[in-house]
Amino acid sequence: MTLVIARTREELAAARDSFGTIALVPTMGALHEGHRSLIRRARGLANTVAVSIFVNPLQFGPGEDLDRYPRTFPEDLAICAEEGVGLIFAPTVETMYPENGDGGVTVSSGEMGTVVEGVTRPGHFDGVLTVVLKLFNLIRPDIAVFGEKDAQQLAMIRRMVTDLNVPVWIDGCPTVREEDGLALSSRNRYLSSAERVTALSLSLALRMGATASPDGPAKILSAARVVLEEAAETEPPLELDYVVLVDPTTFHEVGEEHVGPAVLAVAGRVGSTHLIDNMPLYLAPAPSTES
Ligand code: PAF
Repeated sequence: MTLVIARTREELAAARDSFGTIALVPTMGALHEGHRSLIRRARGLANTVAVSIFVNPLQFGPGEDLDRYPRTFPEDLAICAEEGVGLIFAPTVETMYPENGDGGVTVSSGEMGTVVEGVTRPGHFDGVLTVVLKLFNLIRPDIAVFGEKDAQQLAMIRRMVTDLNVPVWIDGCPTVREEDGLALSSRNRYLSSAERVTALSLSLALRMGATASPDGPAKILSAARVVLEEAAETEPPLELDYVVLVDPTTFHEVGEEHVGPAVLAVAGRVGSTHLIDNMPLYLAPAPSTES
């Protein structure tokens, strides 16, 4: 299959109907093994895999890394070609936002967009949902595949397609990790080798939390905090934003009596790099003490 690259809405519209069913992998580029796993998963789900590559200004807050976010189009193109992608949509900011930020209509992420990651990044999820809905309307995919690494983003996109009746099936794909546990992220390339060592505390905290899962939420969180507090004292230090145990669909923190699926989520800054990670857990009911 020839790889079609559409830069404008017109090029996209002209190509769209020749592709049959489409599984979309929305990205901001700087593709890595995690994106390859999304593309491979998408390949089994539809006739054609489409990848969008767009660094979305609407989801970056003031002082965040919009200007230095890695832009690696030639390498991204090579990865898409290797992975059998049929369509790349790589629009400019003007193509995606011709209204040029002059008070255009956007998607509100509601209450769920204000908790956990939304506390330190106000407006972030409004920006994510707005661009994802625009991509869905332009590309008209049957399925879209997102990484579970951005667990709150995935939960909010599921919520958006339900609440706004968007006819796209949402599929989640497990987080891909380096051998030492670091979750793959386009932002990892900002880390110096010393910062990378500190960053390992995030995935270690999740693993330590998971080992305490038979003992309930308080013990899970305190096991994770031991690692994170130690990392806060190292050089360079981890500046912790949050560690929470939440319901996977609402992202509300779960209580001590919670039974069922939960997500242990952590975020922090190492140097100037913002990193997030999470681990899905299942909290089983406490064993009965009756004999
Ligand atoms: O996860 C990402 O890379 C972005 O948030 C997304 C979904 C492509 C929207 O810009």
